[in-house]
Amino acid sequence: MIAIKDLDYIYKSGVHALHSINVHIKKGEFVAIVGHNGSGKSTLAKLMAGIELPSQGTVLINNINTKDKSRILDLRKTIGIVFQNPENQIVFEKVTDDMAFGLKNLGVPPAEIDTRIAHITKMMKIEDFSDAFDLSMGQKQRVTIASVLAMQPACIIFDEPTAMLDPKGKKDIHTIIVDLHKKGLTIVYVTNVIDEVLSADRIIILNHGHIQYEFKKEELFDNIEKLKELGLETPMIVDIIMRLKNKGITMAIKDYTIDNLIEALLETISPLAVTVS
Ligand SMILES: Nc1ncnc2c1ncn2[C@@H]1O[C@H](COP(=O)(O)OP(=O)(O)OP(=O)(O)O)[C@@H](O)[C@H]1O
Ligand SMILES: [Mg+2]
Repeated sequence: MIAIKDLDYIYKSGVHALHSINVHIKKGEFVAIVGHNGSGKSTLAKLMAGIELPSQGTVLINNINTKDKSRILDLRKTIGIVFQNPENQIVFEKVTDDMAFGLKNLGVPPAEIDTRIAHITKMMKIEDFSDAFDLSMGQKQRVTIASVLAMQPACIIFDEPTAMLDPKGKKDIHTIIVDLHKKGLTIVYVTNVIDEVLSADRIIILNHGHIQYEFKKEELFDNIEKLKELGLETPMIVDIIMRLKNKGITMAIKDYTIDNLIEALLETISPLAVTVS
């Protein structure tokens, strides 16, 4: 789906933001990208979406070279991007106009635009939203995601989409992203919420524009020191599981969610006949 080869990116100002990046992301994969402020996450996200073009090296999205101007519409149909601040992404006051805008640019016929909007607004539970500027930040982010989904991309890149939202908004958007992955979309998720990396199959850690580490979620337990070394926190669930392990209690959970962890804990302690008075 995404093949990045020997990518370097230098801003016009001379900042060398990315160095020798090589990344392969398969169709249907969920990849999280983390790293300190200024490590190059957003720059990489924009290069993946074809918004910025490589200074050196290549970015191929479903074999479309992002530098190939003749394939720009194909690229837009294949990959979408959602940014941190939905207010920078919403152009029109009317929610449906905003969703229709990108589709018109892609040359989608009006009847199909209406069908897609009806389908996506229902799916995203935004049918009742009318004036986009009157919505909360979390609701605006839902509209932004809906507008991207209307383009029917195979892959969506999220660049810290929950950073400006309250706790409920964060949870809602995170749940939407996990559901989109379950539906088969390829997801690249730049996040500063370390607990959220547990939803991904694979984690890429950027440091000063380099890919410093890359590992599968299951390998996270063996790589905690690497996160710490780069000043990143340990996901809470991983921390609890490791502390229990140190006490001789091994937790084998499938999906790393708090609910699953609590269930596994309850199963572990129930034979001990713990009674609560
Ligand atoms: N438009 C720009 N012009 C010049 N330099 C830029 C521009 N955008 C980013 N940079 C620089 O490129 C480097 C990488 O920035 P980038 O925004 O990609 O990092 P980031 O990991 O997304 O950071 P954050 O966690 O703050 O979002 C930084 O040194 C930054 O100052
Ligand atoms: Mg950023």
